[in-house]
Amino acid sequence: MKRAYLTSVFLAALALLAACGGGEQKPETDGGSAAEPAKSMVADASSYDPKRGEGKFNESNVTVGALDAAMAAKGEAISGTKCFSCHKTTDEKLVGPGWKGITQRKAPYWIMNFITNPDPMIDKDPEVQAQLELCLVRMPNQNLTDDDARQVLEFMRKNDGAK
Ligand code: HEC
Repeated sequence: MKRAYLTSVFLAALALLAACGGGEQKPETDGGSAAEPAKSMVADASSYDPKRGEGKFNESNVTVGALDAAMAAKGEAISGTKCFSCHKTTDEKLVGPGWKGITQRKAPYWIMNFITNPDPMIDKDPEVQAQLELCLVRMPNQNLTDDDARQVLEFMRKNDGAK
């Protein structure tokens, strides 16, 4: 008698489980707003200018001319404490890509924007994203001041043979 009772409880529990399993599929069909966030992300990405990057620098507020050796020396010192743990001055990758040729590949204001404001650019810049896939590390913001960044840029120019 007792065994029959337990069996029927067991069967009832199984029936409940089955009912729950079957019932779960319903609520998914009422979506429709799910497409909205995706659209706004596309708008954001299409307003990104890969030549300029994102930040306060542009063609008119970064000017480069003849190499300023004193400025380049300061930039090299800053790079020594904040950058060379991850970057070489050759074209060889360390943690991040080597710096050789960077000033030929990128506009000076792109470099200034990236090194002062890497986070949003890592999210949006197609070439930086390709590097992220190779390097598997996100470059951390090194908290450079505008002057620091300009001096590092001068050092990169020197490294690329600017005179
Ligand atoms: C913890 C490692 C790390 C440090 C420290 C670091 N970087 Fe980077 N950097 C990277 C990685 C990795 C990338 C590739 C993009 C990515 O994955 O975020 C990168 C990319 C770059 C690029 C773009 C290179 C290209 O070929 O387009 C520049 C310029 C750059 N870093 C400059 C600097 C400067 C200047 C400093 C110091 C103030 C610095 N980085 C410090 C890891 C680092």
